[in-house]
Amino acid sequence: MSIDTDIRQPGTNPQRVRDPMVVDDQNQQTFRVHRSAMTSPDVHRAEIERIFAHSWLYVGHESEIANPGDFVRRPVAGRPLFMVRGLKSGNINVFHNSCTHRGAMVCRQDRGTAKVFSCFYHAWSFDTEGNLKGVPDRDAYANGLDFSKLGLKRVERVESYRGFVFASFDADIVDLPTYLADAKEYLDLVIDGCGGSVELAKGTNEYSFSANWKLLVENSIDGYHAQSTHDTYFKYLVSIGTDLNGGVNGKAVSLGNGHAVIEYSAPWGRPVAKWEPLFGEEAREEIDRLRADLVHRYGAERAHKMAEVNRNLLIYPNLVINDIMAVTVRTFFPPAPDRVDVTAWQLAPRDEIDSLRQRRLDSFLTFLGPGGFATPDDVEALESCQQGYAGGGVEWNDISRGMARGPMANDEEQMREFWRRWQTQMGDAADLGGAR
Ligand code: FES
Ligand code: FE
Repeated sequence: MSIDTDIRQPGTNPQRVRDPMVVDDQNQQTFRVHRSAMTSPDVHRAEIERIFAHSWLYVGHESEIANPGDFVRRPVAGRPLFMVRGLKSGNINVFHNSCTHRGAMVCRQDRGTAKVFSCFYHAWSFDTEGNLKGVPDRDAYANGLDFSKLGLKRVERVESYRGFVFASFDADIVDLPTYLADAKEYLDLVIDGCGGSVELAKGTNEYSFSANWKLLVENSIDGYHAQSTHDTYFKYLVSIGTDLNGGVNGKAVSLGNGHAVIEYSAPWGRPVAKWEPLFGEEAREEIDRLRADLVHRYGAERAHKMAEVNRNLLIYPNLVINDIMAVTVRTFFPPAPDRVDVTAWQLAPRDEIDSLRQRRLDSFLTFLGPGGFATPDDVEALESCQQGYAGGGVEWNDISRGMARGPMANDEEQMREFWRRWQTQMGDAADLGGAR
């Protein structure tokens, strides 16, 4: 392995020359990533400090807490948080889930509705705006203790974009629309394609596997692997009468700030709004009606983009929206360099009729569910990569595909966008031997 090199010339101070883990060679049109980026505990530690502590991270969707007092509890970047709609304000409040007394988690259920969060340890209680309301034996405290300052601690920044709630632990981060850059336009396409008003269907997929989280980033926006890795699914589609002749065609687009998308046509159907045999004859009329409605509202060209074109959208660093044969919202976090925890939801039009919702959920689970046609194949591939890195016998991954042409959906420009941003944020921790 190549590491720091000391260049010593007589009479000069030693200079350290570092080799980067990401080598973006525009002259040779090659791009490679050193595999220690996927295995090093130092890199992992630096990612937590330099990336996850300084990005906008997806927390949840406003529809999950539609009414005052509704809450969801979830870890974000490994930190325990909960999100609650304030009873008085109606605002989305996101708090660190830790009692200001001595630390116990005050929100102990994954979801529900509450007027007050009472800590089970010594029974301090907080309202939905985070104010400390109840302290047993308050008289035992001296006057010096200011209870008004002991409310729940808010996450430093919280903003939402069209119902998608993000938080950041960095008080000085740019506002969310600036951060999202050109990814906003694609979020708009997804949401408007669902009729403009969306919700997360109840229920979540949660699973973990033994690979580095950045392999899942790559895989989530990788058109190149579809045909080979998911061969079984394509054979299944043929067996039920789907015409595969058109293949998978499209382009990759860098959206700035590490975000990227692949957009492509593909043989499968889409609940919004492209029928396929898998949905059954009886669904044809309703899906045609949805399509006509999109044309009416957005014009033929945009409606075509919404209905026919698939999108795998990465919002840096760890949110993926796969608008394909269903609309999956997926976020993930690495508790270790070789481990990733994934949570996924299904996005749907708010007032979707039951039969279509059923078809959407079937479609979601058939391909992207933890036991579906795709996810086990992908997990197998990513764990296999991680195992292949063991021992460091082969040092570099190649991510050059498509550098010499306008990037296609089955090229790797979308991954390069991610890696360039990763390298910028990591600074000297993305140098070989540089991570501390
Ligand atoms: Fe919550 Fe003591 S830790 S009341
Ligand atoms: Fe896949």
